[in-house]
Amino acid sequence: MTKKITIAIDGFSSTGKSTIAKQLAKELGYIYVDTGAMYRAVTLYAMQQNYISENHFNPNDLITDLSNISLSFTFNENLGFAEMFLNGINVEKEIRTIEVSKLVSKVAAISEVRKKLVSEQQEMGKNKGIVMDGRDIGTVVFPDAELKLFMTASADKRATRRYKELIERGDKVNYQEILQNVQERDRIDSTREDSPLVMASDAIEFDNSDMGLKEQFERIMSLVNNRIN
Ligand code: DC
Repeated sequence: MTKKITIAIDGFSSTGKSTIAKQLAKELGYIYVDTGAMYRAVTLYAMQQNYISENHFNPNDLITDLSNISLSFTFNENLGFAEMFLNGINVEKEIRTIEVSKLVSKVAAISEVRKKLVSEQQEMGKNKGIVMDGRDIGTVVFPDAELKLFMTASADKRATRRYKELIERGDKVNYQEILQNVQERDRIDSTREDSPLVMASDAIEFDNSDMGLKEQFERIMSLVNNRIN
């Protein structure tokens, strides 16, 4: 008999967490939740309401308005993953822009924002059978997860991956800007007071700088099988 488990995948930005998480969820028939998308959607909302821009940030305005933010995921059969909806509108494309990436770490550092999103994430995973990726999944959201992975890769490899992704989407971006953004986000995410990005003591570290997707997937699947059988 196989049992359903919780798989927590944390790590630095652009380490390929979501790619591997989606593959695992598909293979296992589990739910996949991209928690970064939730922080990005709250950031998009704050930008739309003019609570935040490159030059200003009024966290209190966002905090008072948090109850008006409704987040949901809807599975897209064609794409094979769930898309992010903000107050009923599909924002999957808008949340991946460099503008959102530049501001998201500031929004994610606000405790009230984290409290709301963590409680929604815990609700989604209460029946197990879930793969969730983010920064605090193994430490805060599911400290009892049966399998915790911590993904790392060199900043250069990560920036190159993100650059290719954005260029393929047709965005006009510059490699240096992406590299700076990846490094700056890691700095803010790792040094914030509330739930900083740290490896859980019982997580398995995975450096995939020089590892192909197939090898990564096989290695992780053997860890999963070890836990479910
Ligand atoms: O995974 P991502 O790059 O899409 O995440 C965007 C930002 O959201 C990231 O810089 C930090 C924040 N985040 C977080 O603080 N906690 C999470 N569980 C997921 C993301």
